[in-house]
Amino acid sequence: MKVLEITTAEEAGFCFGVKRAIDMAMEAVQDESDIKVYTLGPIIHNPQVVEKLEELGIRSVEDLSEIDSGVIIIRSHGVEPKTIEQAENKGLTILDATCPYVKKAQKNAQLLMEEGYQTLIYGDQDHPEVKGILGATDYKALIVEDKNDLDEIDLQSKVGIVAQTTKSPASFKELIGLLLNRVKELKIYNTICNTTQVRQSGAENLADDVEIMFVIGGFNSANTNRLAEICSNTGTPTYHIETAEDIEWSWLENINKIGITAGASTPDWLIKEVIQAMSEEKKDLEIEEKEQEEIEELENQEENDEVIETKEEPEVEEVEASKETETDEAEQSDTDEVEETEETEEEEVFQYSDNDIANLEKGQTVEGTVVEINDQGVYVDVNYKTDGFIPLRELSNSDVSDPHDEVSLDEEIKVVILTLEDDEGNMILSKKRADQEVAWDEIEKIHENDEVIEAEVKKEVKGGLVADVGLRGFIPASHVSIGYVEDLSDFVGQTLRLKVIEVDRNNNNVVLSAKKVMEEERAEAKVETLENLEKGQELTGTVTKLVDFGAFVDIGGIEGLLHISEMSWGRIDHPSSVLEEGQEVKVKVLEVDRENERISLGYKQLLPDPWEEFARKHYEGEVIEGKVTKIVDFGAFMEVEEGIEGLIHISQLSHRHVKTADEVVSVDEEREAKIINIDPEQKRVGLSIKELEEPEEKEKTVSSSSSSNDSKGSSSDDKSDKSEEEMPSGATIGERLGDLKSLMDDDEQ
Ligand code: F3S
Repeated sequence: MKVLEITTAEEAGFCFGVKRAIDMAMEAVQDESDIKVYTLGPIIHNPQVVEKLEELGIRSVEDLSEIDSGVIIIRSHGVEPKTIEQAENKGLTILDATCPYVKKAQKNAQLLMEEGYQTLIYGDQDHPEVKGILGATDYKALIVEDKNDLDEIDLQSKVGIVAQTTKSPASFKELIGLLLNRVKELKIYNTICNTTQVRQSGAENLADDVEIMFVIGGFNSANTNRLAEICSNTGTPTYHIETAEDIEWSWLENINKIGITAGASTPDWLIKEVIQAMSEEKKDLEIEEKEQEEIEELENQEENDEVIETKEEPEVEEVEASKETETDEAEQSDTDEVEETEETEEEEVFQYSDNDIANLEKGQTVEGTVVEINDQGVYVDVNYKTDGFIPLRELSNSDVSDPHDEVSLDEEIKVVILTLEDDEGNMILSKKRADQEVAWDEIEKIHENDEVIEAEVKKEVKGGLVADVGLRGFIPASHVSIGYVEDLSDFVGQTLRLKVIEVDRNNNNVVLSAKKVMEEERAEAKVETLENLEKGQELTGTVTKLVDFGAFVDIGGIEGLLHISEMSWGRIDHPSSVLEEGQEVKVKVLEVDRENERISLGYKQLLPDPWEEFARKHYEGEVIEGKVTKIVDFGAFMEVEEGIEGLIHISQLSHRHVKTADEVVSVDEEREAKIINIDPEQKRVGLSIKELEEPEEKEKTVSSSSSSNDSKGSSSDDKSDKSEEEMPSGATIGERLGDLKSLMDDDEQ
């Protein structure tokens, strides 16, 4: 049994410009059900479609004077600017369905005019598209209908040219050839739409591959007639039909492979209708064929007995294109027609030759100018027939809420072409990808040159961080910092200085290290710091580590030791009571040992000296309150102000003989004492409790016979008193011993 194969050409039916206009019209009647919707001239030259649109309430008017209100749809050919003005003045709602290719031709003609070129429009002067382009030049451009028109024009030295979108590329090329010989400077905008060419070559290829071709479209449509002609020229029987009703099923007898194409104004539903009808007919044919086979079998059996040799002449019926091309002169100016196409090869060469439209292809990176920014994305002029569109998601690596943050009008940007023409004929671009390409180049260069880059940390991921270097850069946890980092999330949002330690464009891998930068910078700083370090310098450093005996402070690539005894003028139990890790601190260089890279630092030296303050505020003979902090063999220490401890020598504890200080005072006890001596230089305060007591009778007697300086007591058996005699200033040996002991205690800490 035969199998009927039906193949439709890839490019068949509506071009995107027409489809877009029809879709807009349909939407208008849905959205504005109560408002009248008109088209300025028939939106399409297909009787079936026009009928359907009229049923939906979309009426065609020839002139705006015919209407006073409602929605007016500008069809894909576009109109003159003055028509838009008129519609606006009438208060009509304008739906502009001008094909973007046509818009581009208008824009280019206007540009040529503005740039001072004598502007030519190659096209049919009565065609609405050409009128629209002419209007865009304020009617200053000249229309060239064919090469002979050039003889009538006084060509200037600087000429620019655009073409009607449906013109033949070959004839445009010929015209350009002539112009090149006659003008000094020629600027060409190839505004010819290749949709028709693509459709024609697709139909031709299909016709070569099938036994019969059907071309669907209006009999008065020039582009459909041209398609039928091209298919017929391949030698394949070709039928031009408007609807399925035009098919004569006898055409399909003995046919296995059918090809279908359609003109630019043929809607999908008409194509589907034809295919559907053929599929049903196919079933019938199959049934008939089966019945025929059965009959033949029966007849063969009957003829078995009488063998008659016959030689039948095959009945060959050559079928030509069924309908005559009825090119309507009027339609020439009003439809999506094209001129005759010459050799395809030539056209292809021409397309990529002397013209201003770049030879663009998918995946290519090109430069363009931002011409429009809206909420959906950005339009970019890349010198193509239409402006390319960058959707928001293709603008940047990061989320984009306002495209104005990414680009500005007239800005020159690089973009990658994602699609030359999508289903709606739009060129889709990506700035993000172009930026990534640039970023890869830069990252590779930075890696090669071992340079440092700054990048913001975007997020924490398993095993590290991700930074934005125009690409996704990974920072392993071990490379985030020199030391161990407990919580990586602290770095999110921070800008880090980084080195690229690995780049692999093919595997989309960039590995970064902040640690490497820190290590290298630290090494450099260490050398410099050591060279310039001087005893007595005051520096700012960072506490890197606290230990029981002090703190390590980074003073620029090298760490110095700040001993606990150098942290405070007073007594402290642990360094953490004064400093904390990570704290910035001012320190004084006490010692530098360059050979062993050892530095001693002081902190208290930069704090106000409490002894000086004490000496200013207090005086000998003053009674002061304090707290006993320590009891020693030779007396007791009492804190009289923060960081100031005075000594109550054992001889100053009482008038009576005291063997150990705890007979009179105890640690933490708060007492009053009299200042008997202040020595800020030696950092000593001598205190006396004894002087606040009434002397015992015997002592009173002794005392009354002695001089008023009772600190120089004369008791011969009192070792302490003797010492005091040797040190009349009040800085007794006992105190000095006490200080010495105190220092020893500190060292032990
Ligand atoms: Fe536009 Fe080309 Fe169709 S110019 S209207 S897409 S034939």
